[in-house]
Amino acid sequence: MRQKLVAGNWKMNLTYPEALALVGEIASLAGESGAANAPTVVICPPFPFLHGVGQQLPQASNFHLGAQNCHQKESGAFTGEVSAKMLASVGCEYVILGHSERRQYFREDDELLGQKLKAALAAGLKPIFCVGESLETREADETFSYIGKQLTDGLFHLSNEEFAQVVIAYEPIWAIGTGRTATSAQAQEVHAFIREQIARAYDAQAALDTTILYGGSANAQNAKELFSQPDVDGGLIGGAALKAADFTTIIRSF
Ligand code: 13P
Repeated sequence: MRQKLVAGNWKMNLTYPEALALVGEIASLAGESGAANAPTVVICPPFPFLHGVGQQLPQASNFHLGAQNCHQKESGAFTGEVSAKMLASVGCEYVILGHSERRQYFREDDELLGQKLKAALAAGLKPIFCVGESLETREADETFSYIGKQLTDGLFHLSNEEFAQVVIAYEPIWAIGTGRTATSAQAQEVHAFIREQIARAYDAQAALDTTILYGGSANAQNAKELFSQPDVDGGLIGGAALKAADFTTIIRSF
């Protein structure tokens, strides 16, 4: 079901003691936000911190643990890799897939992402599936066709039941880590487009039910404006998720 959701993607940052201190601070600042209208909050630390951070999450039932990636196979001789089943076994409920950094630096393509999506869903994880265009694509006026293709090739092969488990994150690459946020109008326009494409691929109800997050230099100052857009259901937060006070402000920005 569509929900208000804020996910913190910690990327490859912090040491274990720093990670525990950060989640402790978030817990003490936001721990009481378990009110009925509080958004779902997903904390996505690096793999080695997952279990420990999960133990320290605020008791409020709206807090959940997520991972930043998973391997496509369930188990086996894949030295250095982590399966979706392993993630579920340490308390993960979500996994980020298709982040532009993984597409770019680790050459993850639609075919591989398709396998990862299936593996995540089979393990009972909810994928947070990222799409987003480069600056070059935006300036060439090809944003919609590019995102449309990412959705069709990357996501719309899922069955209705599988798709219902997916959260989509629109993260324009030019806005990630640059301090250059999309305007709320730019975000809304792409989110509305994504919803339209879901309605075409599945049906109108699926489109209404899908949670669509914005990511890319979202912060404590601009979250309220972004989240006020009708098709923006929350955020996938990078840098600002590493500061407890800022992250808590973002959680309260609906
Ligand atoms: P920033 O919020 O640091 O721009 O990162 C966004 C992001 O990539 C979240 O996945």
